[in-house]
Amino acid sequence: MNSENVIVRLNEVEKEFDGVKVVKKLSLDIKEGEFLTLLGPSGCGKTTTLRMIAGFSEATSGEIMLEGVDVSGLKPNERNVNTVFQNYALFPHMNVEDNIAFGLVEKKVPKAEIKERVSEMIKLVQLEGLEKRKPAQMSGGQKQRVAIARALINKPRVLLLDEPLGALDLKLRKQMQLELKHLQQKLGITFVYVTHDQEEALTMSDRIAVMHEGVMEQIGTPDEVYNHPKTKFVASFVGESNILESYVRSVDGDLLHIDLEAGKAALHAKGFGVEEMIYICVRPENVKLSETPVEHFSIRGKVIEHIFAGSVVKTEVELLTGQILKVASHPNDDHVEVGKRVYVHWRPKDAIIVHTVEEQIYNVIEQTTEKLYKEMEGVDEGED
Ligand SMILES: Nc1ncnc2c1ncn2[C@@H]1O[C@H](COP(=O)(O)OP(=O)(O)O)[C@@H](O)[C@H]1O
Ligand SMILES: [Mg+2]
Repeated sequence: MNSENVIVRLNEVEKEFDGVKVVKKLSLDIKEGEFLTLLGPSGCGKTTTLRMIAGFSEATSGEIMLEGVDVSGLKPNERNVNTVFQNYALFPHMNVEDNIAFGLVEKKVPKAEIKERVSEMIKLVQLEGLEKRKPAQMSGGQKQRVAIARALINKPRVLLLDEPLGALDLKLRKQMQLELKHLQQKLGITFVYVTHDQEEALTMSDRIAVMHEGVMEQIGTPDEVYNHPKTKFVASFVGESNILESYVRSVDGDLLHIDLEAGKAALHAKGFGVEEMIYICVRPENVKLSETPVEHFSIRGKVIEHIFAGSVVKTEVELLTGQILKVASHPNDDHVEVGKRVYVHWRPKDAIIVHTVEEQIYNVIEQTTEKLYKEMEGVDEGED
């Protein structure tokens, strides 16, 4: 990545509370103008990471750079970032205008300029007519707009948003997701957005950093993270998935013939050998059911339930092993009756091999050891 375009850089950042690491060796470059989302379940270290970037919390080790400058020791107000919190943190006794103006009043910006910038912000977040309202007289969505305007008026280079839509109901949340995304594109400000909602992350982000127990397991575009998850955790956390354990039976060019506990299957992959154990992920929309066997596949099961969920039918198939497979299809497709036996298959290109974290850690250890050996050899040669 071109380092000139990097606006936030985390370099092996760690955070410990009472001897427990809650953020581990986090390295991440955020590009100028990017919408980057930290995604992960509750407790995985998202807020802690955001607070370290904002300056509310100090990293135990590692380096945080904003616009190329190491910011350790700089207070939040000395950093060119602003934060929007989930609970809005508005001043209850102040009206909309005064809440939005707060940062500029503190900085002693001239009154006329404050007035102009506040009215610009009110237009931007579509709160015209509500200037004199107090927070208690507004809906959740309106309060969140005030919070966003109050942060944006300072013209930060980076806006940090911690689950800003978490308190809103589903419909309003979906609407605000689009509004926020458009706002970000219009202003060109870098957004670092925190959410535990994978759908929200997929909808809004340029890139998603998926975190699990303090570790960033994958970073990539929504398409990369969804269609090419690198770990079992990412595959199961981002989108619905079926994770299956299997062994490679034979290799035929790009086609791996695999044995699952429930039967034979196949997928496209390179670089795997006979008898290797692999975890594969098949998305529900890629699982196909048929009444007759399909080449390379011999997995059988029984349809146990269809759930009609609007634009999609969610079907559960119980395999002979007892494992439940999730299948998604179009309402207009033909659906096999509940209770009937079916054959299960997928297109070989639609199964993804995912690794467990343990394997990845093992790979890192192996690579590091190799590198060390190489360096030692280098030293030996130098001495000769
Ligand atoms: N001030 C604190 N003191 C002790 N433990 C904390 C503190 N803040 C967060 N933690 C712990 O750090 C972990 C990560 O928390 P957090 O960053 O808030 O997660 P997330 O935002 O992803 O839900 C959790 O186990 C949490 O309990
Ligand atoms: Mg949090």
